Amino acid sequence: TVNKKVDSLMALMTLEEKVGQMNLYNGFWDVTGPVPKEGSAKTKYDHLRKGWVGGMLNVKGVKNVRKVQKIAVEETRLDIPLIIGFDVIHGYKTLSPIPLAEAASWDLVAIEKSARNAATEAAAAGINWTFAPMVDISRDPRWGRVMEGAGEDPYLGSKIAKARVHGFQGDDLKKDNTIAACAKHFAAYGFAEAGKEYNTVDIGTSTLFNTVLPPFKAASESGVKTFMNSFNDLNGIPVSASKYLQRDLLKTKWGFEGFVVSDWASINEIISWGHAKDKKEAAKIASLAGSDMDMEGYVYIQELVNLVKEGIVEEVIINDAVKRVLKVKYQLGLFEDPYKYCNTKNETERIGRKAHLYDALDMAKKSIVLLKNTTKLLPLKKEGQKIALIGPLAADKNSPLGSWRTASDDHTAISVLEGMKTYKGNSVKYAKGIDLIIGETSFIKEVNINTTSRDGIKEAIEVAKHVDVVVMVLGEHGFQSGEARSRTQLDLPGLQQELLEAVYKVNKDIVLVLNNGRPLAIEWASENIPSIVVGWQLGSQTGNAIAQVLYGDYNPSGKLPMTFPRSIGQIPIYYNHKNTGRAKNVENNVFWSHYIDQENTPLYPFGFGLSYTQFAYKNIIIKGSDFSINDAVNISVEISNIGDYDGKDVAQLYIRDLVGSVTRPVRELKGFELVLLKKGDTKTVEFVLTKKEFGFYNNNGDFIIEPGDFEIYIGGSSNANLKSEFTLR
Ligand code: IFM
Repeated sequence: TVNKKVDSLMALMTLEEKVGQMNLYNGFWDVTGPVPKEGSAKTKYDHLRKGWVGGMLNVKGVKNVRKVQKIAVEETRLDIPLIIGFDVIHGYKTLSPIPLAEAASWDLVAIEKSARNAATEAAAAGINWTFAPMVDISRDPRWGRVMEGAGEDPYLGSKIAKARVHGFQGDDLKKDNTIAACAKHFAAYGFAEAGKEYNTVDIGTSTLFNTVLPPFKAASESGVKTFMNSFNDLNGIPVSASKYLQRDLLKTKWGFEGFVVSDWASINEIISWGHAKDKKEAAKIASLAGSDMDMEGYVYIQELVNLVKEGIVEEVIINDAVKRVLKVKYQLGLFEDPYKYCNTKNETERIGRKAHLYDALDMAKKSIVLLKNTTKLLPLKKEGQKIALIGPLAADKNSPLGSWRTASDDHTAISVLEGMKTYKGNSVKYAKGIDLIIGETSFIKEVNINTTSRDGIKEAIEVAKHVDVVVMVLGEHGFQSGEARSRTQLDLPGLQQELLEAVYKVNKDIVLVLNNGRPLAIEWASENIPSIVVGWQLGSQTGNAIAQVLYGDYNPSGKLPMTFPRSIGQIPIYYNHKNTGRAKNVENNVFWSHYIDQENTPLYPFGFGLSYTQFAYKNIIIKGSDFSINDAVNISVEISNIGDYDGKDVAQLYIRDLVGSVTRPVRELKGFELVLLKKGDTKTVEFVLTKKEFGFYNNNGDFIIEPGDFEIYIGGSSNANLKSEFTLR
């Protein structure tokens, strides 16, 4: 019936009105890219009144959304409602941890809930479409946008993509607390060369099919309503111009029925890439390729009508795009009630709800990863300890909110200092030490990290001298990751390393709490500092979550979704690499795959994370022995909590397909399970492997399953060594 409604509406539409549905305008304020000259508010209003605008982004709040929606449904010829998009990335007003941090929880239920709460708040503010989830796999922490994804692994990334899509969209898009999701950036943006933003991507088919595309496919299979293309080119074709990706693969092979939106003016950028000579050619290429909607690019609205009239672009191309856009609007219930998301009562009641803050705290605790605790400084004692809290990020209420948070209020995070102070049994002395950033920071400004004043270091040293434990909060400011925040160094920015070493000289009992939007190369800290906690940017509840983990009220359970390298020279470094022909030094000479100045291993591998307790894995049992490629292989393992605390581990199962027609990685994650265990308890966990897990994509993009020998590894990290094997015939 939706198709019928769309068809009858389209029969009434002029070509100009159809092209209008392919036009997405930024809502009068400059937020995520330069506003092209043409983008005056007047032109936009004029176009809106003519019915030449299909949607708007960055219009938020019931009052504002109602204003533009009213023009669309009351002043245009056909009263077609607008779709209203916004970057709801890790919350709207209430902020959850940055997406990479959430991924460290491996907790799909919590991640889905976080997206659901974000959708509830955004929908109450008039928004019905989020530009999330970002499902780009990346192996390069120099790329600032890793903070927005789920890390390096396609299996974990696919599960999280599904959870996030379902979180945003729910089971019923007609409800007023669900919004359309958008899988972005299609495709391969995470492989931008040298981790440099907006850069070229040159990858082989095996990486494309087996690593990059699976989370997109999972999003499509989960019913995501939209896709966004991206700024990069892929093997020489700007992806907004890629017919192969958008029309042939996504829409035809995968059967995706929603629409593809361009990234911000990415259709114009086909010209800068040198793939089209002018806007007319860019509009032609992008529309034929299957980019359905032009975000703040002015290319479609200016060129497409003429292109059709001149017979260069067939009207069926336009019809297909418009049909897709209108269908999503119907599915959102916008035709039945265009003001569905414009309810001031919902806006007051649903945004910033207590329950959302509670969930944000829960998510934040689950996202924290304990990397090191050699002298058991953690958990801190609750009484009678003298604590120094040191670092430029310790009292910061802005940075922990993270990047991509354009609807939340500045300086609203609970700082670590505030969180620590809720534990009254200890004395906490705070010293900032140094500044990390000079001046105000914002999402659109370049972040200045050139602080040179060492004035506060002396005070920090004095404070550290006379305490039992020093907690140091160091790392990246929230705006040092995110879009256009590529880095060439992965150290502690500014003078923080100097501060850390100065404090270490007077007191070695340091707990280092990292704030980071990406993996950091912290080799010195890893060698010298006894306790290290990855605290990411955890959103509104940051300080409470960190304090509860440091004091042991929550036993850390997070696992790294991305490898921490020893140095930048190791990048790209990831767990599911190939064996190479020379993986080991068997001949005792130099001719093997290694560096002469550093180990091959990472500082901390994918899947790694400690707990205050210890877990032991034993007894892998594979039910049966004679398996064909069509069988399911049932595997069980015993996990025991052999430490002193109740705790949770993420049991991870990896396979290695020993021989393949395309070389296979040394390990591939193919299952995981969150296991809660009281101290002293043992549980049996079961995994089932089927075709989906055994198979892989060949270089033609076909999914194949090959008979042969497989190894499996189960444990609490990608370097788990409990092993078994089976054969598929
Ligand atoms: O959604 C974003 C995208 O990820 C990067 N460019 C701008 C878009 C809209 O804000």
